[in-house]
Amino acid sequence: MPDTSQLFPHLFTPLKIGGVEVANRILSTGHDTSMAHNGQVTDAMIAYHESRARGGAGLIVSQVVGVHETARYTSHVLMGTNDDCLPGFSRLAQTLHAHGTRIFAQLFHPGREIMEVADGTAPVAYSASATPSDRFHVIPRAMSRRMIREVVDGYAAAARRMQTAGLDGVEIVASHGYLPAQFLSPQVNRRDDDYGGSAENRMRFVREVIDAVRTATGDGFAIGLRISGDEHTHDGMEDADSLDVIRALAPGLDYVSVIAGTSASLSGAIHIVPPMFEETGYLAPFAHAVKQAVDIPVMVAGRINQPQEAEGIIATGQADMCGMTRALICDPAMPAKARADSPDDIRACIGCNQACIGHFHKGVPISCIQFPETGRELIYGTRRQTGAPRTVMVIGGGPAGMKAAATAAALGHDVTLHEAAAQPGGQALLAQMLPGRAEFGGIVTNLSREMQQAGVTVHLNSSVTADMVAQAAPDAVIVATGGTARIPQGMEFSDDAHIVTAWDVLRSHANVGGSVTIADWRADWVGLGVAELLASAGRRVRLCVNGTHAGEMLQSYVRDTMVGRVQKLGVEIIPYAQLYGADDDTAYFINAANGEAMMIEDTETLVLAQGTDVADALLAALEDYDGRVIGIGDCMAPRTAEEAVLDGLKAAWAL
Ligand SMILES: Cc1cc2nc3c(=O)[nH]c(=O)nc-3n(C[C@H](O)[C@H](O)[C@H](O)COP(=O)(O)O)c2cc1C
Ligand code: SF4
Repeated sequence: MPDTSQLFPHLFTPLKIGGVEVANRILSTGHDTSMAHNGQVTDAMIAYHESRARGGAGLIVSQVVGVHETARYTSHVLMGTNDDCLPGFSRLAQTLHAHGTRIFAQLFHPGREIMEVADGTAPVAYSASATPSDRFHVIPRAMSRRMIREVVDGYAAAARRMQTAGLDGVEIVASHGYLPAQFLSPQVNRRDDDYGGSAENRMRFVREVIDAVRTATGDGFAIGLRISGDEHTHDGMEDADSLDVIRALAPGLDYVSVIAGTSASLSGAIHIVPPMFEETGYLAPFAHAVKQAVDIPVMVAGRINQPQEAEGIIATGQADMCGMTRALICDPAMPAKARADSPDDIRACIGCNQACIGHFHKGVPISCIQFPETGRELIYGTRRQTGAPRTVMVIGGGPAGMKAAATAAALGHDVTLHEAAAQPGGQALLAQMLPGRAEFGGIVTNLSREMQQAGVTVHLNSSVTADMVAQAAPDAVIVATGGTARIPQGMEFSDDAHIVTAWDVLRSHANVGGSVTIADWRADWVGLGVAELLASAGRRVRLCVNGTHAGEMLQSYVRDTMVGRVQKLGVEIIPYAQLYGADDDTAYFINAANGEAMMIEDTETLVLAQGTDVADALLAALEDYDGRVIGIGDCMAPRTAEEAVLDGLKAAWAL
């Protein structure tokens, strides 16, 4: 490999952070993996991070590490409060160092931002003041001065442990509305002692933490601060406020890592892991302002999903390092591919939030819908060539079939994929038509590239029958024929009711009236997206959701963005609405909670967003096939792209 990349010369230059040299400008910012067990580092977590180190990330910042017993913000938080943590962190550091990657730990106290705890009860949460947090509906208790001292000591002790374990530095999490940010914010911090009031007083807690950590670790050990600029909350901190804080605290720090948002509000939390609705690299201008104000390295993250974006940010001096966290969750080998000047081989993150932060919120190990090997490194981490190559026919070129084909071919099998349509992609081609969600189509681009690289033979416009399979006689058939728009059975639809499916609307095949009712059974992207599409085109839209709220099935940052968008357009959302029937001007629902009838009058068109019916005819016709038949994706049971791709991976490994 040449010494540096031709395409990304700035990205692959080293950087000095305090006394620590980092090999390149790509960093994985702190992110909770849900892989800690009993507060400790696990083999799964080490394997996960090792995969990113092997792929060339210069710096990995660990997920948050609790510094005090009251810092347990989830039941699976990593803890640094006693020496039991040393062996795990030590193994993590040694593993990453063996790949030339540096490792810092995030030191963390959530303050009032307590999400859930192991025994299901609500603990006493602590903050600067007893100011309620909107998102988790927590009213905290104001910290006593004695407790402040105890927590500051906790930061210092945890930092010392990280140093003892062999890590290269620590990052104090003052971002996202967590405890240090609660002290900094004049809206949250209502204290009248010397920790509240003036800007200097509000910074006192963070200053004490920085000083205590420095005293505990000495020079040469990097100390950074992560901080949000704009909290995106009506009464939150804004860029200018945070810039003042950064300017004041920088002399005690080795670096600053900037981000946006706060955990405390729905609008602010969206920016913790911004979905595809946000522009790529949207925080670079704030990083630039910070860079002009301080003389320590500045890191920035936030939808920097491709090395081209990162190179531009570094080259133009907007930041010194780019956090590319989901980019690395999605493609751990992204830095190596960029360094080899092969950016087209990179599987770019599409900002869907489904399996990364979506899994975290469900309390299960994080993964990626495009690369389900993530979070499953101990099972699928090392791809071995098969000793028994087989001929494999994959029928259906949606995400399930494409992943199965690409993986099977990469494992050494002889793979042919047949897709009935003129282009691969299946339902992903429809999903990308939803407003603001064009990037979802990236899953098709990425999987197409993976099939090409692995040497899959692709036949488009190719409908396959059981006879054709028998004639080709492959060793194995993988059926991934997907599904069709679901039409619910047993409804009272009169002949003069005007009814179309959401899929027809997206394909622009439907003639839709001026007053529309959407029957949204699945409470996912489709109902909300079609509502936005039709409301933007001037229709009156009522979105009747068979669930407690619109987007109930979605990752919360995606849901809140989409709900915010349709509410801005005046869409009326009606929850608990179970479809019953329709006639020429009324849609009928049953209240799913109390069984009462609900009539939505003045309905010119009823749009059915009712999920998917399986297209499993070929699967049934192949029941007696004299070879291996594996059904995957929606033709087995309608789910999401995540399960489709995972099914594809599993099928390929099972050959
Ligand atoms: C699963 C997940 C967990 C996260 N947990 C943390 C965390 O523990 N600490 C933190 O500072 N940020 C956390 N974040 C935010 C990331 O550090 C990063 O700021 C965010 O993903 C945006 O960067 P990206 O667009 O490069 O992914 C998390 C992100 C994800 C996807
Ligand atoms: S699940 Fe979606 S947002 Fe998360 S890393 Fe994968 S592509 Fe990116």
